[in-house]
Amino acid sequence: MKTSKRFTIPGRAHVVAWAGGAPHLLLDSPGAHVELSLQGGHVLRYVRAGEPPLLWVSRAAIYAPGKAVRGGVPVCWPWFGPHPTDPTKPQHGFVRTVMWELRETGAEGDLTWARLGLRDSAATRALWPHAFDLELAVRVGDRLEIALTARNTGNAPFTCGGALHSYLAVGDVAQIAIDGLDGVSYLDKVGGGEHTQAGPVTISGEVDRVYQDTASTCTISDPALGRRVVVEKAGSRTTVIWNPGVEKARALKDFADDEYTGMVCVEAVNAGDDTVELAPWASHTLRTLITAYTDANQ
Ligand code: BG6
Repeated sequence: MKTSKRFTIPGRAHVVAWAGGAPHLLLDSPGAHVELSLQGGHVLRYVRAGEPPLLWVSRAAIYAPGKAVRGGVPVCWPWFGPHPTDPTKPQHGFVRTVMWELRETGAEGDLTWARLGLRDSAATRALWPHAFDLELAVRVGDRLEIALTARNTGNAPFTCGGALHSYLAVGDVAQIAIDGLDGVSYLDKVGGGEHTQAGPVTISGEVDRVYQDTASTCTISDPALGRRVVVEKAGSRTTVIWNPGVEKARALKDFADDEYTGMVCVEAVNAGDDTVELAPWASHTLRTLITAYTDANQ
């Protein structure tokens, strides 16, 4: 493969062919490993040495052209959820299913990184009539940092939303508590209505909540795995918490029936009133940082 040599850093970065069609990029820092697919710029794995994986990927995930992998950190852009006016357009935008270009790999000290890019094309303009440059920077060390920078390269303003849709691995979702959203108002996409969060978020069935006007860090206490996972964010005023619960998991072809107990999505989002208007040549960066503290080191 043409890219495999150009972006190789021995022991730190290399591109591998993958049965699903899209090349995968493997990034290693002294204490951590990341695997990402060039399809979607989609981080699939983040594992720190000697620890269980931080990201969750379904064992029923489908690796195929045009299909988003169920798990990891899908990049949703330029809208989050259903298209605001046209339900025939893809859920969560179109960039999570197309091939991105690899622009750079690098390594220094304990950090290894990559930059991927995506520009508008005839195919993207058919879905969304704007010129853009997207850049995804992935930095791997004792935390995982993913930053999505959107630039308007056209001559008229546009509005965009989006998400870094992190699927986090947990030991038992029924035992977790998510701190950081106390007092924040949310839209409940399961039960309907607008509510205010009281105390930590706990999960005992399907949860699909859009927390509004919050820039807070979320901390997931996970007694079953004996760790706290910390999700920080920037450039985002919406946080989404999602777990499909048993019924919805059964209905999803790429989600094994019993797996909902081992995951929770805590997503850095811009949606609803939090969408971003970009003037020509303006840019916006949506960033998420994921790390964990085990019971032994907290
Ligand atoms: C969440 C949404 O972010 O993503 C849910 O809030 C949605 O409503 C979930 O079901 C998964 O979406 P998809 O398109 O990857 O199945």
